[in-house]
Amino acid sequence: MVNAHPPYMDGCDDILTSLDDSHVLTITINRPKARNALRTQLLHEIAQTLDKATSDDNVRCVVLTGGDKVFAAGADITEMADKTSVGVLQDPRANHWRTIRDFPKPMIAAVNGFCLGGGNELAMHCDILIAGKNAQFGQPEINLGIIPGAGGTQRLTAMIGKSKAMRLVLSGEFLSAEDAERAGLVSEVCEPELTLEKATALARKIASKAPVAARLAKESVLKASDGLLAEGIAFERKAFALLFATDDKSEGVSAFMEKRKPNFKGH
Ligand code: HXC
Repeated sequence: MVNAHPPYMDGCDDILTSLDDSHVLTITINRPKARNALRTQLLHEIAQTLDKATSDDNVRCVVLTGGDKVFAAGADITEMADKTSVGVLQDPRANHWRTIRDFPKPMIAAVNGFCLGGGNELAMHCDILIAGKNAQFGQPEINLGIIPGAGGTQRLTAMIGKSKAMRLVLSGEFLSAEDAERAGLVSEVCEPELTLEKATALARKIASKAPVAARLAKESVLKASDGLLAEGIAFERKAFALLFATDDKSEGVSAFMEKRKPNFKGH
């Protein structure tokens, strides 16, 4: 597809950006070989773009997508191999997540394929999720000997309820697009080739509304849950950091990179 618009943000390697005439900014995660894994540079590029868009009146709504095949398979596991607990506490990623969380304008996730771990956490930072039938949602961090670290345990529970959230977080199982819609994670499921189109059409509709009202509407809806989640998110972050001191985390990450099953010992 020929992109009629120049990139919105210069100097990005891991994302594509474009702003259309309807005030919709589209951000496309673009690391297909690594299943769009969210390495720190990628997260930084999203945060920088949203930072610019915050003060740009030409941007009224954002669509975040990973393209046709995969939204994002989580944090980049190869980056996690040598990370320590202290490294997690000092990680610049936390600042990038904060920028994404605080983005004040409406943001829609257009999700096809795997939407896992940090990828699902990123989708849940968006205000509305539209999914292709091929989407699969999950928090499989437990398979690596860790837990979600960007609010996944809290936002997922708020969105789909305790029992379903526990099942995903504890078992690492995935949720299909249809089940995700039934559970309330996703607002609409469509054919995968229509996901971006539908998200963009909705974004254009939202972008045609009064921008200040849209911002305050977003802020108001988030007040229904976000304030209540803050304590849990801070706890989760500390627990996430603590787990980086365990042998099981080293075993989980090594097993993934060596393409074998992990052998967890409980220390
Ligand atoms: C780095 C990844 C990756 C990841 C896939 N790849 N996911 N690299 N980080 N999260 C790489 C693989 O190593 C492989 O590289 C290539 O992408 C293709 O992956 P395959 O496994 O061969 O593809 P497929 O069989 O289609 O399976 C796709 C998949 C699987 C189901 C998504 O890759 C997978 O389970 N990935 C890990 C998902 C996960 O555990 N996510 C949570 C991460 S932890 P090569 O070089 O072999 O081609 C997390 C913590 C969040 O997100 C914390 C937030 C603060």
